[in-house]
Amino acid sequence: MVTAVYPGSFDPLHNGHVDIIRRAAGIYDGLTVAVLHNPEKAGGLFSTDERLELIREVVEGIEGVSVDSFDGLLADYTREIGAKIIVKGLRAISDFEYELQMAHLNRQLNPKVETTFIMTATRWSYVSSSRVKEIARFGADVSKLVPRATLRRLNERFGTAGS
Ligand code: PNS
Repeated sequence: MVTAVYPGSFDPLHNGHVDIIRRAAGIYDGLTVAVLHNPEKAGGLFSTDERLELIREVVEGIEGVSVDSFDGLLADYTREIGAKIIVKGLRAISDFEYELQMAHLNRQLNPKVETTFIMTATRWSYVSSSRVKEIARFGADVSKLVPRATLRRLNERFGTAGS
């Protein structure tokens, strides 16, 4: 059994994330989508509970996928749940330097875990949660970038129409 963790802030979940979840779920025996705290992204639009609820709604029906959160180091979490693999999506070379550092550090903290990278599908390679929030905040349409569940919550949060 090879189980994997797909960690992230997921504030909020967008189509690029969903693409990685589907593809990783097709590779590993089990995949946990884990909401973790990124100290570089203080605050956040949605609470951890809201993010979990949203992700659960979207991944329902994708076989082998569970959803969880953890307040601490990713390396400790992988140890706690016995995951052998960390899955990360790579959008562009600009992601690489940060992810390379994280992969090395996580392996030092837990030598039993390997980080694997899935190249984000070209059509989502320009999508990020930060840009989605920025666009939605000003009332513009993000329906092509996010799942319906995310769109509904963004519309509720920003009081915009079309949910
Ligand atoms: O979606 P993000 O914000 O790029 O995800 C980054 C995240 C949450 C996976 C990363 O910040 C993380 O692993 N946070 C948990 C704390 C930790 O383990 N930091 C790395 C120390 S080497």
